Amino acid sequence: MKGFRASFLDVIADPFYREESECIRYFADALLVVADGKVLEIGNYTDLRPKYADIPITNYSDRLIVSGFIDTHIHFPQTEMIAAYGEQLLEWLSTYTFPTERKFSDRNYAQKISSIFLDELLKNGTTTALVFAAVFPQSVDAFFEEAQSRNLRMIAGKVMMDRNAPDFLTDTAESSYIETKQLIEKWHKCDRLLYAVTPRFAITSTSEQLSNAGKLLAEFPDVYLHTHLSENVKEVEAVAELFPDSKGYLDVYDQAGLVTELSIFAHGVQLTEAEFSRLSEAKAAIAFCPTSNLFLGSGLFKLEKAKSTETPVKVGMGTDVGAGTSFSMLRTASAAYQVAQLRSQKLSAFQALFLATLGGAMALCLEDKLGNFEVGKEADFVVLNLRSTSIMELRNQSFDVSNPLTLAQISDQLFATLIMGDDRAIAATYIMGEIAYSQ
Ligand code: GUN
Ligand code: ZN
Repeated sequence: MKGFRASFLDVIADPFYREESECIRYFADALLVVADGKVLEIGNYTDLRPKYADIPITNYSDRLIVSGFIDTHIHFPQTEMIAAYGEQLLEWLSTYTFPTERKFSDRNYAQKISSIFLDELLKNGTTTALVFAAVFPQSVDAFFEEAQSRNLRMIAGKVMMDRNAPDFLTDTAESSYIETKQLIEKWHKCDRLLYAVTPRFAITSTSEQLSNAGKLLAEFPDVYLHTHLSENVKEVEAVAELFPDSKGYLDVYDQAGLVTELSIFAHGVQLTEAEFSRLSEAKAAIAFCPTSNLFLGSGLFKLEKAKSTETPVKVGMGTDVGAGTSFSMLRTASAAYQVAQLRSQKLSAFQALFLATLGGAMALCLEDKLGNFEVGKEADFVVLNLRSTSIMELRNQSFDVSNPLTLAQISDQLFATLIMGDDRAIAATYIMGEIAYSQ
């Protein structure tokens, strides 16, 4: 058993649908008690300390501790090709992405990049991610081994693609089924790891392959489905040509049985009203990836449609590295705010924090385990420094546990941190109550 003393902030309900004051918990001076890697109790320091008089305490008296960030869409093999110049989605894939992903047939190379990738996530305060590997099963083995050795809760899967990609990168409907099944049996629920059946997107799969993906979901009802959906206008047009019998892009996945409560679709920038409604009905989730959508010129995600009361759709935030331009969920939140502004919408600091924590957990159906400091949840958390640069020191006043801020002040300082912050604001990252990164 161990304790952490600091200011704490977490999100316990969805601030898109309820008063923020009902959704946010702010403890100016709290004690978090962790036992066996999970939250045993959190409360005011002076109230709790006598009850836990003998446990060792780590003090972060001038820091703000929040729940670990959850990145709901990212590609580990694209780490080295971040910021590739000049192309939109389909040309970007053929020019940069496919040649890079080819390298991941080499197991040792995949291991090396997995290690760099996971270190980078932790450095940015991201403790859980939903991850595309490459088409090669050994790239999944390498990734999961590295994640397992760090005791991380990670979800990943082998890319399935059997057409419209170079030969060196394609599988077949049958081989992808067999290999995915073996990987699920090997890795799903192994320690904290979970598996996602991962067809790349409709363009690179035949309907046979998508049906096989659906067959896997039926055989393993608690594995995820992770793919891309309606990101780019030309992509949507190509899907209509490739699948003339479908009613639209989402319907291609629906016909294969791929639209479920455990399905996470990256992007959704070009979705129709009917598709939002279908996603809502199916309780499927969207990974909103603003830095990627801006970088590839894909468009502006209609967050207010997903968060409507008529057709509510679960939303998490994704960095989508390497189309996304940063591993930082703070930078991603900043881009999300700017995308909202371009649509004359607002995204508050607490809404953004929700998307990066509890909202991501809900998108992944992991809110019983992750997303805030409720009792029994896994103690993955981030120690934030709200004054990590000289300008942020000027912008954000100092505070400590004996000189607390009001909720309005915390909201304001958190907002500035989301807009200007990056890995420099991450003082430390903890996994199951153990330190995993420190500046
Ligand atoms: N659509 C299909 N593959 C990809 C990919 O690797 N990145 C993005 N952003 N979109 C995709
Ligand atoms: Zn992606």
